[in-house]
Amino acid sequence: MKRIQLLDKEFVLSIPASDIKRAIWDMAMKINRDLHDKNPLMVCILNGSFMFSADLMKLIEFPCEISFVKLSSYHGMESTGEVKQLIGLNENVEGRTVVLLEDIVDTGVTIDNLVRQLKTQNPADVKVATLLFKPEACTRDIKLDYVGLEIPNDFIVGYGLDYDGYGRNLPDIYTVVK
Ligand code: IMP
Ligand code: MG
Repeated sequence: MKRIQLLDKEFVLSIPASDIKRAIWDMAMKINRDLHDKNPLMVCILNGSFMFSADLMKLIEFPCEISFVKLSSYHGMESTGEVKQLIGLNENVEGRTVVLLEDIVDTGVTIDNLVRQLKTQNPADVKVATLLFKPEACTRDIKLDYVGLEIPNDFIVGYGLDYDGYGRNLPDIYTVVK
């Protein structure tokens, strides 16, 4: 298996780009079917979700907008449990279907906070589309409408996900070697 080094940690290939591509394709087909008449506002959650959002959006077949929010909760390999909103949403979401595009739901704190915050602005609906989900790590009771792949509770990098800023450019996903 292919191994890489990022800063002080070693990682091993765990999800090849071809598996990511297939998962995103399946998700896009479901979103096309479910939301084609909803004029949804797609919201990419920066930084981690930039690559997933770009690839998913290329497969969306109905007219829709995309916007960006920037949140931060991770430091190194740990979730801090505190979610900082570094860039907010400018669009008015009242009465609209909003689809949050997340790279990964880990403890669930980030997405739970964002969904709650959005709901105070009276959207018609808030849907969550996450490329990856760690069911064993999740501490919040959240509804995930679209999940690409369920993964074990290990720290990963690649395809937008980082270890202290590094690894986001990798087309495949790698798991830390313990
Ligand atoms: P949560 O709030 O614990 O669900 O974590 C959400 C955010 O933490 C994600 O959007 C990622 O940016 C980051 N994150 C969670 N797990 C990992 C991981 O294994 N590697 C890199 N970043 C992660
Ligand atoms: Mg993220």
